[in-house]
Amino acid sequence: MTAIKRVLITGAAGAIGRTLRAAWRGRYAMRLLDVVPPEPAGAGEETIVADCADQQAMIAAAQGMDAIVHLAVDPKTRAAPERAWALIGATWTVFEAARIAGARRFVFASSNHAGGMAAMDEALASGVTPRPDSLYGICKVAGEAMARHHVDKHGLTALCLRIGSFKPVPVQIRDLKTWLSPGDMARLAECGLTQNALRFAVVYGFSNNTRLPRRDPLWETIGYRPQDDAERFAATIAAAPGDPWIDGKPPLGAWFAERDWDVKA
Ligand SMILES: NC(=O)c1ccc[n+]([C@@H]2O[C@H](COP(=O)([O-])OP(=O)(O)OC[C@H]3O[C@@H](n4cnc5c(N)ncnc54)[C@H](O)[C@@H]3O)[C@@H](O)[C@H]2O)c1
Repeated sequence: MTAIKRVLITGAAGAIGRTLRAAWRGRYAMRLLDVVPPEPAGAGEETIVADCADQQAMIAAAQGMDAIVHLAVDPKTRAAPERAWALIGATWTVFEAARIAGARRFVFASSNHAGGMAAMDEALASGVTPRPDSLYGICKVAGEAMARHHVDKHGLTALCLRIGSFKPVPVQIRDLKTWLSPGDMARLAECGLTQNALRFAVVYGFSNNTRLPRRDPLWETIGYRPQDDAERFAATIAAAPGDPWIDGKPPLGAWFAERDWDVKA
């Protein structure tokens, strides 16, 4: 397969979008799309202000692209189910844009909340099994299903990333297991552009954290070699007595997995 050179990133003005942009500058030609204006384009970059729900805009944005990295998200799915259904619809529009415009690769930003009802060791052992902990997690499972569908039916190659806790540094006890550093985020997402082992995969996105109960069995296969370890910050994080993340096996999704997280009545 010829190398991926041109990449459309949705949600490019967000935290992960800005991280990928900085890491990939000069190595990929990037089309950076968001509903809010991304930082002005530099060399090898284009910016587009558009909504992922706009089919014509997305087909136009996907033209000439080898790959799409779909990060755009409405973080407020908890506020109203309608927002979750709209997010699922927008994700479908982006997958369809890939098909229609002929982009060959897709990287889908899923979430640990797609498997959030399972304990972490169970989630890492069961791979793609959906155990969503919330409407947000259900949106991510729907995106993973769309990826599988477009792989099977339309020949796409897709990598779904069940991203853990993406932040500059770990700040709470849970992060010592679930942290995904900016550098490892960029390394993991790039596997979706470069790996040739699998046509479809769902993988968890964590750094090489000492406290991981196990490593994702597909990391090796797709060539993901995480380099950061949350343990380096452990001494800076205060542990509340009885925190189940110290030595228990709480649901991976933590507070998202609580009974009333997004139930209103
Ligand atoms: N940050 C994390 O810890 C984490 C963890 C798990 C999964 N994820 C997933 O990774 C992805 C990126 O996360 P992030 O932290 O960068 O989020 P973010 O909120 O910082 O950025 C999301 C971006 O998407 C844009 N956006 C929202 N709706 C859009 C639409 N309809 N069309 C175009 N752009 C739209 C927003 O303007 C924003 O810039 C998301 O899909 C998120 O669910 C993130």
